[in-house]
Amino acid sequence: MPHKTPQKKILVIHGPNLNMLGIREPHIYGHESLDQINAGLQARGEQLGFEVETFQSNHEGLIVDKIQQAMGSCHGIVINPAAYTHTSIAIRDALAMLDVPVIEIHLSNIHKREPFRHRSMIADIAAARIAGFGSFGYVLALDGLAKMI
Ligand code: DQA
Repeated sequence: MPHKTPQKKILVIHGPNLNMLGIREPHIYGHESLDQINAGLQARGEQLGFEVETFQSNHEGLIVDKIQQAMGSCHGIVINPAAYTHTSIAIRDALAMLDVPVIEIHLSNIHKREPFRHRSMIADIAAARIAGFGSFGYVLALDGLAKMI
């Protein structure tokens, strides 16, 4: 019987207000909905041999819970913490507990925007960071993880 290699599991976390993609400031965040982005991630994940789980929450504590649950059960994390990028020590501390690569992603180039968006609480614990490619950045994140893990 042919032996099937178990798929590597990637958790993709979308932070607050990203459920409104497509409607929310499309000149900044694009016209694609979160469902469309997640479908693209599933498709690319399949090509790369990843099992991709996606999760969105508007609540900091729920994101922390999700990261804690991922401990020991996933091989990589892609996270757009959205506004929590700039404020959340709780999300940073949760991510710091993991021993798998964390890819920080933003649809917009946060460094071209307001000064308060230039600071990221997770930049120094991320294995890599992507910003400014719009939704294509998520695909780049998966491709990057495929090289990394
Ligand atoms: C964002 C940038 C953040 O500053 C903002 O609060 C978001 C989205 C991005 O993907 O460009 O909600 O993370």
